[in-house]
Parts: sequence; structure tokens; C-alpha cells
Amino acid sequence: MTSIDEVKTIAFPNIGDPRGYLVVCEGERDIPFVPQRVFYIYGTQKDVIRGQHANKFTEFVLINVSGKSKVKVTDIYGESRIYELNWPHTGVYIPSMIWKEMYDFSEDSVLLCLASRHYDKEEYIRDYNSFLQMR
Ligand code: TYD
Repeated sequence: MTSIDEVKTIAFPNIGDPRGYLVVCEGERDIPFVPQRVFYIYGTQKDVIRGQHANKFTEFVLINVSGKSKVKVTDIYGESRIYELNWPHTGVYIPSMIWKEMYDFSEDSVLLCLASRHYDKEEYIRDYNSFLQMR
């Protein structure tokens, strides 16, 4: 079963020149999968907690391309870690079967999510106790 140690921070190539910066994220090179889906979250109030689910199959990379937020990840053994997402060139890789909660969004937060699979609501585990029982 997936352990919290498999969650990782990824620093993307950040190509800067006098015109500004360009961040590159290549599937199966900079991240462990080829994204099948991209979505982003913005306009979330500071006191809102999003996520609160685990995915049976989908892997994710989360990047705050603007502003900041936090993600708390918990594995099936109940071990947790908190990552701050506060750089457009740094992401967090979250494998499948990890419980995730995103919170503490800044007003200018745009949280980009790259996903390894198409959306399928059936592969979402939305009850925390059921998640822990899958151990
Ligand atoms: P939800 O999973 O609750 O978002 P979060 O994890 O940020 O709390 O999704 C919100 C809504 O958007 C829900 O009705 C499902 C829908 N949705 C899609 O249609 N496709 C997607 O890829 C995602 C992530 C969500």
C-alpha cells in the first residue's frame, strides 16, 4: 500500500531570462506520468478545506502557479505530512491511495492539478474511515 514517503516535492526546470520565467513540466520526465487531465482551483476562501478524498488509481501533481495554499497528505497507516505550495516552479507529487486536503488558500491562489487519469467519480474515496479500513 502507498506510504507517505512516496509523496514528493518536485522542482521543475525554471528557465529565466530578461523576459521572465518559463517553467517546464514534461510527462514521464519531470513527473512520473503523462497527464490525461488538467484542472485548476481558484477563488477558494481561506477557511475552506477542499479535497478530503483519496483516489484508488489517479496520481496527481499539485502546483500553485499563483499565490499559495497548503496540502495535508495522509497515508492508509494514518501518517500525515503538510506541504506548502508557494512557488510556481515547485509541485507536490501525490500517488494514488493517499488522502489529501487542500486549505489555507491565499486570495490570489491558482492551484494547478495534473492528473494521470480522466475523471471518474467511482474511483474517489470520500469517507476517511473507509479509506483507513482499506489497509
Ligand atoms: P471536487 O472533487 O469536490 O473538488 P476538490 O477535490 O477540489 O474539493 O470536485 C468539485 C466538482 O467538480 C465535483 O462536482 C466534481 C467535478 N469535477 C469534474 O467534473 N472533473 C474533475 O476532473 C474534477 C477534479 C472535478
